[in-house]
Amino acid sequence: TTRFATIDPQHVTDEALQPFARMLAAGKTVAFPTETVYGLGADATNPRALAAIFEAKGRPSDNPLIVHVAAMEDVAPLVKTVTPLARKLMAHFWPGPLTIILEKSPAVPDMVTAGLDTVALRMPAHPLARRLIALAGVPVAAPSANQSGRPSPTRGSHVVKDLEGRVDAIIDGGPCEVGLESTVVDATGSFPVILRPGGITREMLLMVVDHVAVDPALTKKDFGGGESVTAPRSPGMKYTHYAPKAPLILARSVQPAATTTEAAHVLITLALRHQKNEAAIGILCTDETAAILAEMPEAAKPPLLVVKSLGSTHRPEEMAANLFLRLREFDETPVSLIIAEALADNALGFALMNRLVKAAGNQWEEA
Ligand code: TXA
Ligand code: MG
Repeated sequence: TTRFATIDPQHVTDEALQPFARMLAAGKTVAFPTETVYGLGADATNPRALAAIFEAKGRPSDNPLIVHVAAMEDVAPLVKTVTPLARKLMAHFWPGPLTIILEKSPAVPDMVTAGLDTVALRMPAHPLARRLIALAGVPVAAPSANQSGRPSPTRGSHVVKDLEGRVDAIIDGGPCEVGLESTVVDATGSFPVILRPGGITREMLLMVVDHVAVDPALTKKDFGGGESVTAPRSPGMKYTHYAPKAPLILARSVQPAATTTEAAHVLITLALRHQKNEAAIGILCTDETAAILAEMPEAAKPPLLVVKSLGSTHRPEEMAANLFLRLREFDETPVSLIIAEALADNALGFALMNRLVKAAGNQWEEA
């Protein structure tokens, strides 16, 4: 059975966290909130605890885990060397949604790194997560706390839905602020290489370093979401991911930078094409496009349409925070198909499109 607690992240007390910290130290699995998504934590130095993570999630064993630390000085024992680049990135972006890859030390079990000679490290900014890890007194391996292949959890209820009965504890600490997983960068060399786009954008990294590379597998027109010829260097990027229960397709616009009017037209054309008697069609789009859809005459639209918005294009952080939430909301609404608007892929849009394309299994359709 799974132990539960609800803890207000604004009023985190050691008394409330202590039982869960002790569980982590004793090799148990504990799901907890971070600023990105909920994580399923276990002692990163305990192979039996690590095995329980893979088991609970149904995660392939060749997909390595991120090790979470509470303080800068916790990094040194886990790595061969902290490169000058890593030092710089940690100083600027930790605590926060940046995961840093370095060569691992023998202290890190192979099960964490899936046999790679590198280890992924992150210091979360969430006060509950940081304090829990500090109290546990061990580095905490934590993948996203979802069933493998499902959208990442940004609410305690998402974790309950996916992992209740499969993990030892779940701490509900409210909604996750960022809503997308951390940016993963290789910092073994002299400039960062982005292996997974996320909350820390390429543009933000460029304010601190002169050059940023992007794993070629991510810059294909499928945003790393499909079967690119280049194998992604972040092993997790090759799997089907983030998928809602209904099939999802991306609406390809004629213009790369589509106007919202055109986007709305493409979405409706596809919805009409796919509508079948009785079954509703879902549309996932921006506030601006949703406003145009709302103004269209009913006769021009399929009778059963469920429109959900990610937020305004003027507030990409809001769209990022809503993405996985909306995908999971569609699971509660009977739709036969979800048609998603393709978004601008600059800054945070790069991470958003990466997740959307993966959720769609790289299925695109044009009007
Ligand atoms: O925001 C996050 O990073 C969340 C929260 C809980 O911290 N965690 C998370 O973990 O997203 P997970 O396991 O869902 O994703 C970890 C990603 C995978 O794509 C994995 O392949 C990659 O990091 N990764 C881990 N270790 C790696 C390594 N040594 N080299 C390359 N990629 C690595
Ligand atoms: Mg994940």
